[in-house]
Amino acid sequence: MEPRGILIKGGKVVNEDCSVISDVYIENGKIIEVGLNLQIPAGVRVIDATDKLVIPGGIDTHTHMELVFMGTKAVDDFHIGTKAAVAGGTTMILDFVIPQKGKSLLEAYDCWRNTADPKVCCDYSLHVAVTWWSDEVKKEMETLAKEKGVNSFKMFMAYKDVFMLQDSELYAAFSQCKEIGAIAQVHAENGDLIAEGAKKMLAMGITGPEGHELCRPEEVEAEATQRAITIASAVNCPLYVVHVMSKSAAKVVSNARRDGRVVFGEPVAAGLGTDGTNYWHKEWAHAAGFVMGPPLRPDPSTPGYLMDLLANDDLSVTGTDNCTFSVCQKALGKDDFTKIPNGVNGVEDRMSVIWEKGVHSGKMDENRFVAVTSSNAAKIFNFYPQKGHIAKNSDADVVIWDPKLTRKISAKTHHQAVDYNIFEGMECHGVPVVTISRGKVVYEEGRLKVSPGNGRFIHRKPFSEFVYKRIEQREQVRKPTAVIRKPYEGKVISI
Ligand code: URP
Ligand code: ZN
Ligand code: ZN
Ligand code: ZN
Repeated sequence: MEPRGILIKGGKVVNEDCSVISDVYIENGKIIEVGLNLQIPAGVRVIDATDKLVIPGGIDTHTHMELVFMGTKAVDDFHIGTKAAVAGGTTMILDFVIPQKGKSLLEAYDCWRNTADPKVCCDYSLHVAVTWWSDEVKKEMETLAKEKGVNSFKMFMAYKDVFMLQDSELYAAFSQCKEIGAIAQVHAENGDLIAEGAKKMLAMGITGPEGHELCRPEEVEAEATQRAITIASAVNCPLYVVHVMSKSAAKVVSNARRDGRVVFGEPVAAGLGTDGTNYWHKEWAHAAGFVMGPPLRPDPSTPGYLMDLLANDDLSVTGTDNCTFSVCQKALGKDDFTKIPNGVNGVEDRMSVIWEKGVHSGKMDENRFVAVTSSNAAKIFNFYPQKGHIAKNSDADVVIWDPKLTRKISAKTHHQAVDYNIFEGMECHGVPVVTISRGKVVYEEGRLKVSPGNGRFIHRKPFSEFVYKRIEQREQVRKPTAVIRKPYEGKVISI
């Protein structure tokens, strides 16, 4: 029988703003009380968290469970993917609805809800991609924002002829985001340059995974990032750059923030934990396993640089872009890198990788860790403090985290469906010992206790204050106005 409630005793409660030794009492999926010497009813389960941290469950801002992409389907479905998530201390994912060009956004959304709802083992929400433009798309965006709990839309600047939008379409989509109070997200890479670069590499006889990086070097990402920021700024729309993978693109985001733009950058676990030298690995399957878009960068100082920017708030949140294809699926591109399905793992390992490379390394403290793995996502996407915070009335998505324990990442022991792991062999300090989702222990001492369908879809309202307060004020005070003049009364040439 399920206990009536759970008392987490003696741990250090870590929020994004402060840490304090405190007990946490949970009942009916909610945090009822945080404090010491709480009055607790009988029949409650007590979990000792002495010497451990009690943190808000991780929020992965970027996954693609069971996505049909590049001729095949990602192997982590919503069941396996969310199971792996909770095993790694993540209690919410934000996945993407990606309609084909010409297809209804609302139908694609319904389809994705029907796919995910019965399978998810933790809470989730959905971003929706805008892959084409029309008045119908514009209307559907409004319906999604007003009625369907979607306040973020992803626009692709890459995947030419498949998902890519032109600048004028980006302008229209960003304008609509701003009207309806949504956040515009971009996959920032110049799709035309990638298409040309790929032809060039293949013509040079470069058919292996290294060609994937060579045809889309850093500046291809940086240029698109700058262009997206320029377009968003022109329409006073908040912008969120997904999967920032290079130092060049990260610098563009960082400079824009210094210039006062409302822009957020999302590095992913892959980019923080490993690098693009793997594309030059002698074994084809190893190299292909790292293929994702934008690519990991061969400059080995990239992960550390992205972590530095994440630590000091130049970059804001972390996702994974979890989109897993097993080796035999990657092999669709064994003779041509452009046919290797793009995507890597991360949903299970993100928290540990960031603890190891971010906190254990001394770059960020435990509070910043909570901010970049959980709270900031909840603030930007407008479900804070329902999630991303340990406080009275917040959802009981809680992780007991042991910062001293270590674990070695391996495909042999991970819970994901994919048959390799890009972090294979990495020793990580920072291990989730207990994961609580919606008030239930779903992972404990290495064992999963999940039920598919137990997660809920989280409706997100538009006009997130964290994002839109500045936008709305600017709209008021920065409106360009015409200069009042006496009419010109002199001569005008005739034409
Ligand atoms: O390689 C990637 N990133 N696969 C998923 C699609 C995307 O662009 O996010
Ligand atoms: Zn993308
Ligand atoms: Zn993605
Ligand atoms: Zn270490």
